[in-house]
Order: sequence, then C-alpha cells, then structure tokens
Amino acid sequence: MTSLLSASNISKKFGSGPGSVTALKDISLELSEAELILVSGPSGSGKTTLLQVLGLLMRPDNGSLTVLDQPVAGLSDDRVAKLRLRTFGFVYQDFKLIRALTAVENVMLPLIAAKESPKIARQKAVTRLEQLGMSGRLNANVESLSGGEKQRVAIARALVNDPKIILADEPTANLDTVHGQQIMEILKTAGNSGLGIIVVSHDERLDPYATRKLSMLDGRLR
Ligand SMILES: Nc1ncnc2c1ncn2[C@@H]1O[C@H](COP(=O)(O)OP(=O)(O)OP(=O)(O)O)[C@@H](O)[C@H]1O
Ligand SMILES: [Mg+2]
Repeated sequence: MTSLLSASNISKKFGSGPGSVTALKDISLELSEAELILVSGPSGSGKTTLLQVLGLLMRPDNGSLTVLDQPVAGLSDDRVAKLRLRTFGFVYQDFKLIRALTAVENVMLPLIAAKESPKIARQKAVTRLEQLGMSGRLNANVESLSGGEKQRVAIARALVNDPKIILADEPTANLDTVHGQQIMEILKTAGNSGLGIIVVSHDERLDPYATRKLSMLDGRLR
C-alpha cells in the first residue's frame, strides 16, 4: 500500500506560560491508500487540531510531516498552500458553504482557486454533484438545501479537485441517522476508489465504516 501521509512525533501547543494548552503530544500516524481511519475522542482532546496540522492548515511545533512522499517542513508557505490544494479535500461539521452561491458555484470554488477555466470548472462540478445524487438541485441556492444536501455539496466540493486525501471533521454531527449514513457511504465509496480518509467524530455509529479506529485523549493518539 502506498503511504499518502506520514506524521512522526508531532506536537502542537497553543499559547505560552501557565495558560498554555498542549493540543497534540508526540503523535505519529500513517495513512495509506484506501484507508478510512476513524478518530474518536472527547471534546478538547485535539481532534480538530490534528486535522488542521495533517491538512497543512497549521504547522506543528515539533515533529515531521510527509505528504505524498514530500517532507513539508522545508516548503515555503506558498508551496505548502499548493500542495494542500491539490492533495486534500476538507469536510466540516457545519458544511462551510458560501451562502450567496448556488450548489454548482460552491463546488467550482476549489477549481477556480487552482486556476481552472470557469467552463471546465462548471462541467466538473456538475459531474460531481450528479454522482452524489444532486442533479435536481444544481442551481439551488445552498441556503435552501436540507442538511444532508448541504453536506453532499460540501463533499462534492471536497472531491472535485481529485484529492488523494479527505479530512472530515464531525461530518455527520448535524445530520440525522439516515443522512449521516448516506454521507458515510459516500466517503466509503471514495475510500474504495483509493483515497485515504480520516474522519474525526464522537459518533460511534460511524464505527462500521472504518478500516482502522484510533482514539485521542489529552492530545495523545492511540
Ligand atoms: N487556536 C487556538 N488557540 C488556543 N487554544 C486552542 C486553539 N485551538 C484549540 N485550542 C485548544 O486545544 C485543545 C484541543 O482543541 P481541539 O479543537 O483540537 O479539540 P477537539 O477534540 O476537536 O474538540 P471538539 O470535540 O470539541 O471539537 C483544546 O483545549 C482547545 O481549547
Ligand atoms: Mg473539534
């Protein structure tokens, strides 16, 4: 199996002095193709911070990170941003869609950011949304969509750049059981096609979808 992401001895502290919080302590993790790792753990244990560091949204204080066999530490912020854009798709609990835009326009955004032409960006966005059962709502304003539909738009946006890795932070927390299962089925299908996926969640109903389960406690991963 090809390693997509490798973290060794990562740590991350917020603040300094007596009020500081060590959010990640000595974390090592390997993500391979077609893996779906489920990370559980109580509130404040460091799950979101872990995804931000692994997804190159935040640099760790210590430790090393390798993404697609490329060591991240030596890269400029600009190179890191480019690597992030073409490697990762992110899915969030609150969807993080742009309210003023339609479903298709939201899904086009990563492609526009990657300097794709608007015409091709629209074609790719439409194809992704259709694959996720959203063909009837392509031009709907995202405000008018149900929670499950919003999350499908968000997943289409995460997948549209053909990322190698999906990082999902509590993707089912705002959804009912049926829609939560739909979302996990979509992620599982993506995993079967070779993507590496890390889902953080407290929801134990997601357990059956995992190929590996880890838990976080006080910044440590086991
Ligand atoms: N930007 C920040 N500045 C200061 N402290 C932070 C920051 N981000 C996170 N923390 C602290 O780091 C710790 C880990 O936070 P994190 O958000 O990673 O936890 P979590 O496991 O995602 O929690 P939840 O399940 O509630 O989302 C917490 O103590 C939090 O207060
Ligand atoms: Mg969190």
